[in-house]
Amino acid sequence: MTRPSLFVTRKLPPDVEARLARDYEASLNSGDVLPSRDGILSGAAGKDGLLVTVTDRIDADLIRALPPSVKIIATFSVGYDHIDIAAAKARGIAVTNTPDVLTDATAEIALLLMLGAARQATSAIATLRSGQWKNWAPTGMLGMELTGKRLGILGLGRIGRVTAHRARAFGMEVHYHNRRRLDPAQEAGATYHADIESLFRVSDVLSLHCASTPETRRIVNRATIALLPQNAIVVNTARGDIVDDEALIEALASGRLAAAGLDVFANEPNLDPRYLDLPNAFLLPHLGSATRETRNAMGFRALDNLDAFFAGRTPPDLLTA
Ligand code: DGY
Repeated sequence: MTRPSLFVTRKLPPDVEARLARDYEASLNSGDVLPSRDGILSGAAGKDGLLVTVTDRIDADLIRALPPSVKIIATFSVGYDHIDIAAAKARGIAVTNTPDVLTDATAEIALLLMLGAARQATSAIATLRSGQWKNWAPTGMLGMELTGKRLGILGLGRIGRVTAHRARAFGMEVHYHNRRRLDPAQEAGATYHADIESLFRVSDVLSLHCASTPETRRIVNRATIALLPQNAIVVNTARGDIVDDEALIEALASGRLAAAGLDVFANEPNLDPRYLDLPNAFLLPHLGSATRETRNAMGFRALDNLDAFFAGRTPPDLLTA
């Protein structure tokens, strides 16, 4: 029996590649060289499907140029703003993602960012590592305690809810905004705000968990930052383009905001270099899902979707435009 053929754009964890090699005619990327647009198109030639990641821009033009053999694009990610789902649908190409399996890992990074930002970890670590730490000082390197602070969550979905749960263990009071109010079981005592303005006004720490869409792009901007309490903290584990970098950098530099914890950036990996000069910016290189457990689970989830598709079943994580 012939096995379905796949073009896999990035090197994946060994156990995931072993399953790929067992069940598919898979073209793997052992050198993990980032494929160019043309590289994706030539790799896709004659293939039944693509296994892509957030580093591949699968826009409408690329989808139109794909060979007719390609019937499915499985992304190794929960986010799918890098894929034009409507264009894929128009060409009859199925698209799947990997929800659920990276929820805990990403929520853990949100907490790390909150703590790192609140306790001024960037400047504290720099002080220590550069030999500038002279002695313990009653007034030195003071941060903000999370205990008793109000956490505003923009997007109380899977990751937002687990972040809220973890934050409650720190004694934080949870507030949120979604387009629709959740049922009480999902709210778990969080206070609903019908608009983002109301949420931002109470957010001592604002944590972003919404998808990047035309509605959310640059939703954190000069006007909305002005609504946050003085010395608030902004945390982003979602997507960089939700934030207007110009406005956030200005608010961090002026001291209007105490700090930011950022794991995602517009135009990754070429983040705005001004962030690197801000001692109150605690920065990570898009590590939300970067644990061994989660990256394996993401790969297996992508393969479950591909297996279902090629067996003639509806993939569990089929996306619709
Ligand atoms: C995702 O899955 O969307 C993350 O950004 C990468 O794991």
